[in-house]
Amino acid sequence: MAPSPRDATPRLQDELDECVESVNKTITRLLPETDLAEAHLFEAMRYGVLNGGKRLRPFMVLQSSKLFNVDPARARRVAAAVEFLHCYSLIHDDLPAMDNSDLRRGVPTVHRKYDEATAILSGDALLTLAFEVLSDRETHSDPHVRVELVRKLAIAAGPSGMVGGQMLDLIGEEQEFDLGTISRLQRMKTGHLMAFACEAGAILGKADDAHKKALCNYAYDLGLAFQVTDDILDVDSTSTETGKPANQDDKAGKSTFVSTMGKDQAKMRAEMLVHQAIRHLHVFENRADTLKELAHYVLKRRA
Ligand code: IPE
Ligand code: IPE
Ligand code: MG
Ligand code: MG
Ligand code: MG
Repeated sequence: MAPSPRDATPRLQDELDECVESVNKTITRLLPETDLAEAHLFEAMRYGVLNGGKRLRPFMVLQSSKLFNVDPARARRVAAAVEFLHCYSLIHDDLPAMDNSDLRRGVPTVHRKYDEATAILSGDALLTLAFEVLSDRETHSDPHVRVELVRKLAIAAGPSGMVGGQMLDLIGEEQEFDLGTISRLQRMKTGHLMAFACEAGAILGKADDAHKKALCNYAYDLGLAFQVTDDILDVDSTSTETGKPANQDDKAGKSTFVSTMGKDQAKMRAEMLVHQAIRHLHVFENRADTLKELAHYVLKRRA
């Protein structure tokens, strides 16, 4: 099975484990097994989501929801929706036309386990299921809140967010980018979805703009630090540790912080970003201590 993040403090690890358990229950309920003729599609979707994963984005949703006393059942639905969208992005990211990866979370990628068409369709289905879940009354009784969730996730995931970042990432295989462009690329492909996950609690709790902004700014810096760390792990760790093939970025000629400034400078940059991320949380005083711990864990993780 996929590696679990054993680099967190025991307290954070307990909270992460609890999140995995509770969100997996919600995911299983939203994505049941079926014996319909198209059961194969559902099986591939379940495989692509329930194959492990650190569930960091769901954790961000649950933690930000706690700050605003949001009903945990509602928060878990949004957490599941974000994870559906994230898993779709991974399934498509691994396809031969993109990163051509055979291993994800320590097991064969969806297109290797099934086939390419099934991987494309199961990704499409997870993407659309995310919005179905957010727009359901069970997620929030106020339609304005539901529309805000749908709209902000659409922006985070679309051409100005994750998909745009993925396009830049592929262009960066052919073209050498400067640091400014790489930062923008990383913020788009990774930061925007994390920002949605962190803002989600504030949206569900109808918080004011200042609180929403603080959470988004935390997530943008943390998302960048997270992606820089992912790029370092690509050169610095084994596929047994990460559950993904090693040295993928270099083989594909990707433009990353590591390729541009080297591993040591990239590590320093990630550390600086984590401290910057934490500073955005001062408005919450000690109520956001778990999110602060999460930021430190993002640097230390080996998976
Ligand atoms: C992997 O994300 C994709 C990136 C944005 C680097 P995670 O490292 O959060 O992957 P899982 O969900 O734990 O497998
Ligand atoms: C992918 O970045 C980020 C996504 C939006 C899916 P990577 O291509 O670096 O992610 P990994 O290393 O395959 O998990
Ligand atoms: Mg990629
Ligand atoms: Mg990849
Ligand atoms: Mg990577």
